[in-house]
Amino acid sequence: MVSFYARFTLQPRGALALHVCDDIVCQLAGSEVPEGAHRSPCLGLCERAPATLTEHFGESYEATATPAFRPIQAKQSKLLRRVGVVDPDSIESYRSHGGFSALERAREIGPSAVIGEVTSARLLGRGGAAFPTGRKWESVAKAAARPHYLVCNADESEPGTFKDRVLMESDPFAVVEAMSIAALAAGCEKGFLYVRAEYPLARKRIENAIALSRAAGLLTFDLEVRRGAGAYICGEETALFNSIEGKRGEPRNKPPFPVEVGLFGKPTLVDNVETLVNVLDIVLDGGAAFASTGTPDSTGTRLFCLSGQVLQPGLYEVPMGTSLRTLLFDHAGGLRPGRTLQTVLLGGAAGSFVTPSQLDVPLSFEGTREIGATLGSGAVIVFDDTADMKQVLLRIARFFRDESCGQCVPCRVGTKRQEEVLERLFVAGDTADVALLSDIAQAMRDASICGLGQTAANAIGSGLTQLKVLHG
Ligand SMILES: Cc1cc2nc3c(=O)[nH]c(=O)nc-3n(C[C@H](O)[C@H](O)[C@H](O)COP(=O)(O)O)c2cc1C
Ligand code: SF4
Ligand code: FES
Repeated sequence: MVSFYARFTLQPRGALALHVCDDIVCQLAGSEVPEGAHRSPCLGLCERAPATLTEHFGESYEATATPAFRPIQAKQSKLLRRVGVVDPDSIESYRSHGGFSALERAREIGPSAVIGEVTSARLLGRGGAAFPTGRKWESVAKAAARPHYLVCNADESEPGTFKDRVLMESDPFAVVEAMSIAALAAGCEKGFLYVRAEYPLARKRIENAIALSRAAGLLTFDLEVRRGAGAYICGEETALFNSIEGKRGEPRNKPPFPVEVGLFGKPTLVDNVETLVNVLDIVLDGGAAFASTGTPDSTGTRLFCLSGQVLQPGLYEVPMGTSLRTLLFDHAGGLRPGRTLQTVLLGGAAGSFVTPSQLDVPLSFEGTREIGATLGSGAVIVFDDTADMKQVLLRIARFFRDESCGQCVPCRVGTKRQEEVLERLFVAGDTADVALLSDIAQAMRDASICGLGQTAANAIGSGLTQLKVLHG
């Protein structure tokens, strides 16, 4: 079990560990890993690239991340309206900004009316799979077996994604309040918030918010925080259950689905942090009001994590359906002076590349689907004409080879072969191997157990089709 997790070790370790991110965005920012440091996949600090995390293992555990050089961007805000405004450590501050009024309203109208509002809001999950949230809540509420569990998925390890960190660090009581509402609605007696190990500040603030909310009688259920240990796959919901149960974080076969057989074999509601925080306004203003923002099929606003070669990297909230061009140029300041846009990677390592000619794509689930792309986890990585896209594709291939849990053959072998073929292709320029790449992609897509293997070839396939990497 220990060997499964990158951050566990059977060897004695020093008092200090330096993790240097060399993932897509940090590689682009010139990250170099010094001798003795640990090479890390995305640390979820992409707006500060190149990013590092220093851990001190002493009497008490402490971790320090690359500091922010300027406050996080928080424009156009519904979900982000309290970011940088409330004191994240103070329940009084949260209450003075309307905090816990949604929970009060939920208690007044009762569980089935709350689920009714979430359903009429047509909220779709923000963790990547875009499943209708109301339907999931209703299934758990109706499940006969007991207890019911609630899990908040705060694993956020998709390269280029840092939205959940910002919500947890800057507005932790909102996450706790939203979990209380979800537990009330779906009849959950017990819950967990699973946060990645690389987010020590988020964890501290969430733990404080839970303690203060509990003391104030504002928790509707029993809630604990669980820390990940450096495995991207643990963001997949069933792998996450295994991880909470103290096992290797290997995904389970579905069906049965978590709403029936989830954590400890019981009905489980699992939702992403951003999904949950949306529920506050849905309960306060009603589902119909929520659905009046965005497009008919993608309601509400969406958080986008802008990083890479863009003038103002940061977290931006825009109504669903806003064009990528508007997000990039009107909100995030466009490119550095004198540079031209090469491509944008939408949705992180499991996403796809969008060319300059596709910049008017509406950022909605259906709009991106139409051009064969995906919103995924809200990662928007920008590459100008100076970016070496071969290095980017190789880094993506290495990411999947490293992060495959190894449980099923198509993914375990496919991610390795994919990386090897790309290396040969980019070094020897042997294009005969391209056909092999699409065979590998097909096998992984068709025969992998979980979304990691099923999407591991997406960005590489789209990069090879869209970019000039084979000729440059
Ligand atoms: C490989 C993989 C990694 C994932 N990582 C995350 C993650 O870090 N955070 C997250 O919320 N969902 C992640 N998901 C999606 C979850 O399995 C699940 O769909 C989600 O937590 C459900 O919440 P939602 O309905 O609110 O989106 C991942 C899925 C896969 C296949
Ligand atoms: S697809 Fe990959 S990550 Fe998913 S279960 Fe199979 S080996 Fe593990
Ligand atoms: S922090 Fe380095 S790529 Fe995200």
